[in-house]
Amino acid sequence: MKPKVYITRRVPDEIIVKIEKEFDIRIWDETDVPVPREVLEKEIVDVDGLFCLITETVDRELLEKAPQLKVVSNMAVGYNNIDIKAAKEKGITVTNTPGVLTETTADLTFALLMATARRLIESSDYLREGSWKTWSPMQLTGQDIYGATIGIIGMGRIGAALAKRAKGFDMNVLYHNRSRKLSLEKDLNMKFVELDSLLKESDFVCIMTPYTPETIDLISARELSLMKKTSILINTARGGIVNEEDLYHALKRGEIWAAGLDVFEQEPISLDHPLLTLPNVVTVPHIGSASIKTRMKMAELAAENLLLALKNQTPKHVVV
Ligand code: GLV
Ligand code: GLV
Repeated sequence: MKPKVYITRRVPDEIIVKIEKEFDIRIWDETDVPVPREVLEKEIVDVDGLFCLITETVDRELLEKAPQLKVVSNMAVGYNNIDIKAAKEKGITVTNTPGVLTETTADLTFALLMATARRLIESSDYLREGSWKTWSPMQLTGQDIYGATIGIIGMGRIGAALAKRAKGFDMNVLYHNRSRKLSLEKDLNMKFVELDSLLKESDFVCIMTPYTPETIDLISARELSLMKKTSILINTARGGIVNEEDLYHALKRGEIWAAGLDVFEQEPISLDHPLLTLPNVVTVPHIGSASIKTRMKMAELAAENLLLALKNQTPKHVVV
């Protein structure tokens, strides 16, 4: 009997075909609706492998229902949707997809930084709603990017890829990370600083850390109050690293100048969320890695990790 695999979303056919060659698969056959929890709880009962997305909460309770489960392959670099400790205790391998999305996510982060600094969305709306009557000296003026100081919190792969882009704009690059990255510092001519200094000195503060118990609410009222009034906060990492209520108040009171957000505490963010009432917030729906090529690579890598784990070989990227 072939091992059984459950796939929690319709991924491209090529990927399904590849998995289907070796395993008995069942799939939640929707593209834009996540699998309901009760369905997932039923499906997981007899499977050997789970191919899932960040929209699935793979907690202890779910893992307890899956006596056969050997691998959870997450099609994402982040894995805060999975209870890693519980998986480890049960001897279940967890895999993720780092590397393939680094450049694409850094691209989006820089795009969001630029869109926020130069008020691109607001300007586009201004034109379309007929507000553009004349060229005017201070109309829709934003913040300069070239030559500004960027503070990157979290210097992993994506942080480093962002620093490279910032260098191209002659930015002064500061970073904060749990550990110093000496060779990167030298290569990119960037400076390690404590978090408070980074917040005080940066024109752009970019969050590039994973979501862990240590980074929950890392940026809250106190941290926002240290930032410059002209500064911009960019978060393409995970919602919940920035406290949204505190961010709303800081933006509303003009303690910081603007924010660009790709990620939220609740996804999708509710349409009556106060942040969405502010003109100085640019929001996009968690599209950091969303290029056609990169999403294909992530799906391929997630399939490959799953296949290797179920053949008792070492997957390319093992979390636990
Ligand atoms: C997406 O957010 C990912 O973690 O890959
Ligand atoms: C993810 O790839 C990271 O290490 O930043």
